[in-house]
Amino acid sequence: MLTLACMIIRPFRSEDAEGIVDVHRSSVRSLEGIVDVHRSSVRSLEGIYTAGEIAAWTSGNIEGFRTSLTHSICFVAEVNEKIIGFSDVTREGKLRRLYVDPAYSGRGVGSALLRNLEDEALKQGIYQITLSSSIPAVPFYVKRGYIQRENTFETINGVRIRAVGMSKNLIH
Ligand SMILES: CC(C)(COP(=O)(O)OP(=O)(O)OC[C@H]1O[C@@H](n2cnc3c(N)ncnc32)[C@H](O)[C@@H]1OP(=O)(O)O)[C@@H](O)C(=O)NCCC(=O)NCCS
Repeated sequence: MLTLACMIIRPFRSEDAEGIVDVHRSSVRSLEGIVDVHRSSVRSLEGIYTAGEIAAWTSGNIEGFRTSLTHSICFVAEVNEKIIGFSDVTREGKLRRLYVDPAYSGRGVGSALLRNLEDEALKQGIYQITLSSSIPAVPFYVKRGYIQRENTFETINGVRIRAVGMSKNLIH
C-alpha cells in the first residue's frame, strides 16, 4: 500500500469544519452506485445507496458539523494543510464518522485515523467502540478487529439509510 509520508493526524479544531464538510460530501458521494458484492447476482446489480439517500446523508452544514465535532473526540488527517479525512467518537464510545477523501482512499488514511481514535478513547477510559457502518466499509472494520452485529438503519433527515451495527472491545 502506498502510504502518505506527508500526512499528519491531529485533533480537530473549530476552523476545520469547512474542510470536513467537503471531505464528508465527496466521500459519501463516492458510495453512490456502489454495488453490494456480498449479495446474490441479481441484487448485486443494484446500487447499495440511492441518490435520494446520498442527498440526505450529505445534507449536513458547516455549523452543524462544528458543533457536533466540538462535543466529541475528533481527529483530522491533513496533507499540506488540506483536510483529507476525519473521524470522531462520542464520550460514550460511539464512533459516529470515519470519512476519507476518495482521492486519497486505499493509502492508510482511514486506518491511521481509526488507530488514533482507539488510542485516545482508551486513554479517556472508553473500553468499547460501537458504530453503525456503511455497508461497503464493513470488511474494513472487520479487518481491524470489529465484530459485525445486527443490520440496522441510520435515519438522516427522515431518510432511513441501511447500515450494519459493529463493535470492538479495546481491552481484553
Ligand atoms: C472506509 C474508509 C474510511 C477507509 O479509508 P481508507 O483511507 O481508504 O482506508 P485504508 O487505506 O486505511 O484501508 C483501506 C483498505 O482498502 C484497500 N483499498 C485499496 N484500494 C482502495 C481504494 N481505492 N479505496 C478503498 N480502499 C482501498 C486498502 O488496501 C485497505 O485494505 P485492507 O483493509 O485489506 O488493509 C473510506 O473508504 C471511506 O471514507 N469510505 C466512504 C465512507 C464510509 O463508508 N465511511 C464509513 C462510515 S461508517
